[in-house]
Amino acid sequence: MQLLFQSIFLILLFSHAQLSPVCSNGYTLVNNNKCLRLFKTPETHKTAELTCLKNGGATLANIKSSIDNRAITIFVGGASNSIWIGLFCTKSSAKECFWDDDSGSADQFQNFKSGFPLVEKGRCVYSSQVAFDRGQWSSGDCEKESRAFVCELPVTNEDQCQKNYNGYCYFDFAPLPFVSAQKICKENCGIIASILSPMENRYINANFYTYSALLIGATWSYNSSYTWFDGSSWSYHNIDHTARRGGVCLAMSTGTGSMVPTGSWYPVDCKASNSFLCKRPAGTSCPWVEPETPPTPVIPSMCNSSMIMAPGTISSPAYPGYYDNNMYCSYLLSTTGAYNILLKFTDFSTNLNLDYVTVYDGETTSSPMLGSFSGFNETPINLVSTGNTMLVTFRSGNSEDSNIRYGFSATFSKFVQML
Ligand SMILES: *[C@@H]1O[C@H](CO)[C@@H](O)[C@H](O)[C@H]1NC(C)=O
Ligand SMILES: *[C@@H]1O[C@H](CO)[C@@H](O)[C@H](O)[C@H]1NC(C)=O
Repeated sequence: MQLLFQSIFLILLFSHAQLSPVCSNGYTLVNNNKCLRLFKTPETHKTAELTCLKNGGATLANIKSSIDNRAITIFVGGASNSIWIGLFCTKSSAKECFWDDDSGSADQFQNFKSGFPLVEKGRCVYSSQVAFDRGQWSSGDCEKESRAFVCELPVTNEDQCQKNYNGYCYFDFAPLPFVSAQKICKENCGIIASILSPMENRYINANFYTYSALLIGATWSYNSSYTWFDGSSWSYHNIDHTARRGGVCLAMSTGTGSMVPTGSWYPVDCKASNSFLCKRPAGTSCPWVEPETPPTPVIPSMCNSSMIMAPGTISSPAYPGYYDNNMYCSYLLSTTGAYNILLKFTDFSTNLNLDYVTVYDGETTSSPMLGSFSGFNETPINLVSTGNTMLVTFRSGNSEDSNIRYGFSATFSKFVQML
């Protein structure tokens, strides 16, 4: 028994040891909680920021405590006279100086030399690394002065993956529709990427810029909110609200080819093929146990629900994902009073002559048929009932090709027939 406990303890110890923090991109682990890299060639503050971004999606060093400040000074070890740090001042007060990792102002900790910050000298901040005032901060001109600099990345876990950032591995893939993208991510032990902070957004934007749109792991659910597939809470977003609604999936603009600013997110059609980004925890082996959240962006199909009052939306099961073979659904639509029902198909794609949507002018399949439809990329169809009810049925057959049809979506509303 004791032997068993000892071996369990050893296994725990071993797996914990495997996940001790490491640095990616050739950065050096400092204080067991920061990854730093010194660039000795002097650059302007802006070029320095860009160099950090290009080197693993890093920022200039952000210093939040005297321990951090000392660690950076020891790390530089007098190799440069001064280094830019990731702080920008709007006024000559530490409260009005802001860290470039979006963590706020230098109100909590600052190490300015007396008389600084002084925006008349410049809005950027450097830390002296010479003996008499080592580690003390001063203001410098962002564009005119060139200095050495230290870039910083968060620690992560050991992993063989190429893009390893802050505990996660990221992979991008060539364009596919959302449902197939989900499958590929799963096969790679991951899930379509959530983006949970400005830093993660910055990292992804800097590292996956080859495509104009990169599908990410959120969808618009019909209760008017976005949700992440990996179950993360929707606390940060970077949606460009000027973007036209184009579907219930979300993509990040990563190139210059888009109308949306790079790094911003915008709605895209789930069925359209887009490059996509998968994410999995670094240092875990396949399969990563998927979080318990619904895996597909299922819009409530209303299949087989009891009578539905207008207005509303119905769709084939799993829409905008693919429906299964041999499905049968019925949808009983109704209105009150003097209203008829106007049914508008907004999307229609089934296997021709195999999978049918049939509409009846009444409550049952014995009511007069208004039409029966089948086919791929059908043009929108509008139908009106003569009474207060309309029955829609959907039946799919047995097709080898079942993976390429996503079915239908239709809205229905109250309608007054003016005679
Ligand atoms: C929308 O649905 C999601 C998932 O079911 C839920 O977590 C969220 O709280 C809902 N939002 C609103 C505004 O009801
Ligand atoms: C809907 O109801 C019919 C009849 O009861 C049943 O055969 C069918 O499987 C149901 N469809 C789904 C998707 O549950």
